[in-house]
Amino acid sequence: MEEKKYKRTLVTSALPYANGPVHIGHLAGVYVPADIYVRYLRLKGEDVLFIGGSDEHGVPITIRARKEGITPQDVVDRYHTLIKDSFKEFGISFDVYSRTSSKTHHETASEFFKKLYDNNQFVEQESEQYYDEEAKTFLADRYIVGECPRCHAEGAYGDQCEKCGTALSPTELINPVSKLSGSKPVMRKTKHWYLPLDRHQGWLKQWILEEHKEWRPNVYGQCKSWLDMDLQPRAVTRDLDWGIPVPVEGGEGKVLYVWFDAPIGYISNTKEICPDTWETWWKDPETRMLHFIGKDNIVFHCIVFPAMLKAYGGFNLPENVPANEFLNLEGDKISTSRNWAIWMHEYLKDFPGKQDVLRYVLTANAPETKDNDFTWKDFQARNNNELVAIFGNFVNRAIVLTHKYFGGKLPKRGNLQEIDTTAINEFAEVKKQVESYLDVFRFRDAQKEAMNLARIGNKYLADTEPWKVAKTDLDRVATILNVSLQIAANLAIAFEPFLPFSAAKLRGMLNMTECKWGELGSIDLLAEGHEIKPAELLFEKIEDSVIDGQLQRLADIKKANEEAAKAAEAANWKPEAVGAPVDFETFEKLDIRVGKILDCQKVPKADKLLQFKIDDGMGGRTIVSGIAAYYKPEDLIGKEVCFIANFPARKLKGVESQGMILSAMDKDGKLVVVSPSAIVAPGSKVC
Ligand code: 2FM
Ligand code: ZN
Repeated sequence: MEEKKYKRTLVTSALPYANGPVHIGHLAGVYVPADIYVRYLRLKGEDVLFIGGSDEHGVPITIRARKEGITPQDVVDRYHTLIKDSFKEFGISFDVYSRTSSKTHHETASEFFKKLYDNNQFVEQESEQYYDEEAKTFLADRYIVGECPRCHAEGAYGDQCEKCGTALSPTELINPVSKLSGSKPVMRKTKHWYLPLDRHQGWLKQWILEEHKEWRPNVYGQCKSWLDMDLQPRAVTRDLDWGIPVPVEGGEGKVLYVWFDAPIGYISNTKEICPDTWETWWKDPETRMLHFIGKDNIVFHCIVFPAMLKAYGGFNLPENVPANEFLNLEGDKISTSRNWAIWMHEYLKDFPGKQDVLRYVLTANAPETKDNDFTWKDFQARNNNELVAIFGNFVNRAIVLTHKYFGGKLPKRGNLQEIDTTAINEFAEVKKQVESYLDVFRFRDAQKEAMNLARIGNKYLADTEPWKVAKTDLDRVATILNVSLQIAANLAIAFEPFLPFSAAKLRGMLNMTECKWGELGSIDLLAEGHEIKPAELLFEKIEDSVIDGQLQRLADIKKANEEAAKAAEAANWKPEAVGAPVDFETFEKLDIRVGKILDCQKVPKADKLLQFKIDDGMGGRTIVSGIAAYYKPEDLIGKEVCFIANFPARKLKGVESQGMILSAMDKDGKLVVVSPSAIVAPGSKVC
């Protein structure tokens, strides 16, 4: 298929919710790949606009505000700034990073809705929804809790049970309760506007399934499974007081659904940065639009937003949507609520100046085709064995030797030997390889190829050994170092998209003024006599103690989570239902007595059994009981316990047991012996 020609590229990256800081999952899934791609295009001299911003609406923001006793605006103000600063620190080179609570966005989203409404692009539908009569408001799904119909855990939310993971609708909850007032919600009629996706199904099918077979398999596959079913109308308004008011009659007290307004945020943010030319970026057929997102956003960017744009008319549709799968952390799903994450602002504090290390590791493990795992050990190994040992080591040797033998001036390249031409031919190939991957959004492979350039350089120095040759042939050393510095200069270009801080530092050391992608592969980037600066360390080794500290932090979080889960389970635990009734006569037949434990020992070859000598006030008896897992024998000696005295004697592992010691069973199955609350004479009856 012949590639379409375009004049400019609009790159959008998912707008993160401003209800918490951003973590490595965000960075790996969306922002690092988008940034690599944008930097690559810029380096090629292409016209590109990179749009970012915070998504500041939606129910979770209102929940956090209520929890903290502040307003939703306070919440988003706090996190918008934190997120924006973190992105900046990591070199995510947005042309604009704005927010959906901005005036421009409110106006843009409002106008968008109004036009769709005026052009009959919505259907109105009444439905019954839970309403809180005390708080006088309809309830978002997350504001309703109750018993899960599946696992019967208490506290399941109206959209999901966090215990068993089942997706729910609020009407499925048993005994629903409003989180706002604690009252029982009632059903009330409410009207909403729906985007009739069914009307769009035909062209969406043609456009994605026929015309975009090149999309990543995970993206194409998800779209296909949606489009193979009948698309249903989707509500684009909500009964909520945080968001963009519905700008039409009957819309009082309602706001635009967060997923309706958020993607319009891309348009609003373009308007902010290009108030006069924004339409060129959105409507000119020679503009190519790309959405960088995570896999949970695929349906909104491939189906819902395109349907909105089509319904409005005149807008371009995305040319590609390179969505990533998820990144896990040390084998577990990243979770904001369980604090199972590496937060970007914390990483910056713990690893100052090491943004590129994280960028490198996240790209090396990018979850492009499947979920992937981040581990601190891998982080350390990639830093120490690749960035330090290969990239940094090569550059450092080339620069230090040039200073040592040639006073920091690029020496003359003389006659080339086979060893030189092999290296030169090899690194000339790197450009083509890196490009072939970047052009199809395969960032992991692209970075691997770029790293090959450093490997070529490292091997070249190891094979030519200029420090040895210097004793006999300085002309030869000149050639070797000339070639080496040309490779280093190539590295400064190749890594600019991936590791912008290190690439800039390297350019500084090499005293390079220009950096153009087109020059990658050239053996003449630096002229003879060109002066370079002293060597600085590009990367430094990360010690075990640092990694152990991070692992300890995660272990502490895991422990705290387990304890919290146990406490929540205990709070939710309900005793077994009471058994069938017994009459008094039956009860009276049970002869329960108090006895004092005189001796206690493990029963040989029986893990579970303890053997007791009991003072029963009647001459003593032996009882065997299956509680060895819960007690050390010596801890029980001297205790008084209750036992059934008229239980028929039976042999357990060869020991005759003359009764049964009573225990209470804890919620997790643990047995605890039952004792009188004060000392009583052995043999006393329990009645
Ligand atoms: O999943 C999320 O974090 C959403 N806030 C992404 C929105 S992307 C776009 F539509 F703004
Ligand atoms: Zn459940």
